[in-house]
Amino acid sequence: MSKKVIEMFESRFHHAPAVVAAAPGRLEILGNHTDYNEGFVLSMAVGQTTDVAMSPVEGTECIIYENGKDYSLSLNEIDIKIPGDWRNYLKGLLVELRKRGFTVKAFHAALTSTVPLSAGMSSSAALEMAFAYALKEINGIDLSLPDWARVGQGVENNFMGLKSGLLDQFSSLYGQANALIHCDFRTVEVLQTVSMPAGWKLVVANTLVKHNLVESDYNLRRQSCEKACAAIQKTNPEVKALRDVSPALLEACRNAMDPVDYSRALHVVGEDDRVMRGVDLLKAGDVESFGKLLFESHESSRFNFENSCPELDALVELAHTIPGCAGARLSGGGFGGISIHLVKEDMAEQYCERLKTAYESMTGKTIDTIICSIGDGARIITG
Ligand code: GLA
Repeated sequence: MSKKVIEMFESRFHHAPAVVAAAPGRLEILGNHTDYNEGFVLSMAVGQTTDVAMSPVEGTECIIYENGKDYSLSLNEIDIKIPGDWRNYLKGLLVELRKRGFTVKAFHAALTSTVPLSAGMSSSAALEMAFAYALKEINGIDLSLPDWARVGQGVENNFMGLKSGLLDQFSSLYGQANALIHCDFRTVEVLQTVSMPAGWKLVVANTLVKHNLVESDYNLRRQSCEKACAAIQKTNPEVKALRDVSPALLEACRNAMDPVDYSRALHVVGEDDRVMRGVDLLKAGDVESFGKLLFESHESSRFNFENSCPELDALVELAHTIPGCAGARLSGGGFGGISIHLVKEDMAEQYCERLKTAYESMTGKTIDTIICSIGDGARIITG
């Protein structure tokens, strides 16, 4: 990959880039909508990355070369958001850096990516973090990894209007090849890495249902979680976030909150618990029981959090019937996007084919499948 982006840069700008950075997409394995509730997630970086080759230039005009085309970006116009334009992510990044007092030089860059777009693998976080790393090298920006994740979150929250948590950028930065990361979004750290069970693979099935979280109910879900938490805080001031709420405490406060907010909180509290149990099960090598937690998580998304859709439900239903799969669930924000399936490695190819065929005859629609590898986090390749 990095070779390709370097070649592209050299063919367009006729010299070697000063720096090459790569950042992966991510998969949320367990722990849905827990991140902005200061909870736990089991996630991983995928093998697919977004790569950026960059050199600084004089002045204020930047060029990003992608797929044979020049995209311009003026440092004088970073506050101007153009609806639907992917450069908004870069503008947002520059705005967030400016807020933190960093001046950024203009640049020429080439961009390539193998992270599928709008598919729940967080292509936007990969884009943000790849550019963040390139800009960091070129401008000598000194920020901690959690702060880089916050910069990316700021892009989503403030520039794009999506009130997302830290999961996507954090996983893109902290991912480790061949391991799942157990993340704590209160302390913003990796608590431990958990090996992927030998002989098992994660298969992504993309419903191709447009997954545009900015226009979805994502922010409403977050609001519901905050309302549920505020209702609990009235009698339990020690509670700072849903992370502090046990299933028993939630039940005890059930009548103090709106029933819909209760259902949303039930999902989040359940997910935190499933992450903890899931980590223990994986460490004990009990893949079958871990898989059941994935199914439970999906059921809770479908019923309590209502962030599934018929296409995702169909895929998870089929996962119960096709041999070789221990568990499946929607992954990421939801409302479309992808499901993940934990599948026996030697049956993974066959599983994908069977899932595609069964899904097509069930719904008349097609899906894309990817057998995922676990990649490293964001990195500088040269520079
Ligand atoms: C999206 C958001 C994340 C996280 C997940 C759901 O990917 O960007 O912050 O909330 O949804 O777990």
